[in-house]
Amino acid sequence: MTSALTGQVHIVTGSGRGIGLAIAHAMAEAGAAVVINDVDADVAEAAADRIRAAGGRAAVAVAAIGETEAADHCIRVALDQFGRMDGLVANAGVLRDAILWKVTDDDFDSVLRTHLRGAFTCGRAAARYFREAEQGGTVTLVSSVAGQRGNVGQTAYSAAKAGVAALARTWSMELSRAGVSVNAIVPTAVTRMVATIPGLGEVVEAAERGEPIPHRLRHELGLGTPQDVAPLAVFLASEAGRQITGQCIGIGGDRLSLWSHPQEIALCHQEGGWNADSIAEAWAHTMSMHRQKVGIDQKT
Ligand SMILES: NC(=O)c1ccc[n+]([C@@H]2O[C@H](COP(=O)([O-])OP(=O)(O)OC[C@H]3O[C@@H](n4cnc5c(N)ncnc54)[C@H](O)[C@@H]3O)[C@@H](O)[C@H]2O)c1
Repeated sequence: MTSALTGQVHIVTGSGRGIGLAIAHAMAEAGAAVVINDVDADVAEAAADRIRAAGGRAAVAVAAIGETEAADHCIRVALDQFGRMDGLVANAGVLRDAILWKVTDDDFDSVLRTHLRGAFTCGRAAARYFREAEQGGTVTLVSSVAGQRGNVGQTAYSAAKAGVAALARTWSMELSRAGVSVNAIVPTAVTRMVATIPGLGEVVEAAERGEPIPHRLRHELGLGTPQDVAPLAVFLASEAGRQITGQCIGIGGDRLSLWSHPQEIALCHQEGGWNADSIAEAWAHTMSMHRQKVGIDQKT
């Protein structure tokens, strides 16, 4: 896949650090010109400098993803600097974890604004461009295991990331005629974002010291480096990957997975409809045996 993206232009939001940074580097290595977006100008400039120093092409779009103007700015930079756009990776995000009754309005809004409104505003701007340019393209969203399964302490984050997976499903249908594929990555990687999650602080510190991530974490939890996640974004933007749409694909450490979409798993009919007693009976005799667990499997 070394030159899989030659001639392409990709915007990666939140690519000054972490997974976004690794994706931007991998895309540049694969031949793409990349627009580095981050709310932090210093890390964005440093990321672009490193790509250019390695012989790649990069431009910077400093903006706080979440508002329409920020999305428009990223696309404007891509068009002004490189004359086209082939793909968007909507990766920017923040964590404000708290148990439900301690979640503030500000924290909730901030997480929803960055992840969900950010994916929406960037995805909509990209869709408008792709439809007008009539050239097809790729939109890669970033969901999370918390969004697929729920997670204690992540009210805003799990809601936002479930919403992001929903965007991938809906947009894959809405944009198929325009030749635009839309998928969601479900990543796990040791970054500063996960440092605040109980039990992971030490792993992040060790990784920052340059120590390898233990095999068990890589293999069982799928917890590796941001560089382990990046090849999936490159693949989805490549000729072969562009045929895939509407999928939630997990990657991290040694693991690569395909997530199911929610669907009915038990179904009963009652002529004329249901009442509380008949629901209780159906629950006891049919539905209850299909109950599902929620939450993230903790194998640590
Ligand atoms: N690390 C994981 O295990 C993991 C798991 C699931 C999902 N994710 C998702 O992957 C994405 C990247 O996370 P990460 O772990 O690399 O985090 P990170 O904190 O290392 O990097 C996030 C980057 O986004 C930038 N950013 C934050 N808000 C922004 C905004 N409004 N506009 C532009 N840039 C902004 C930050 O400055 C930072 O550089 C996020 O969407 C995150 O939710 C990460």
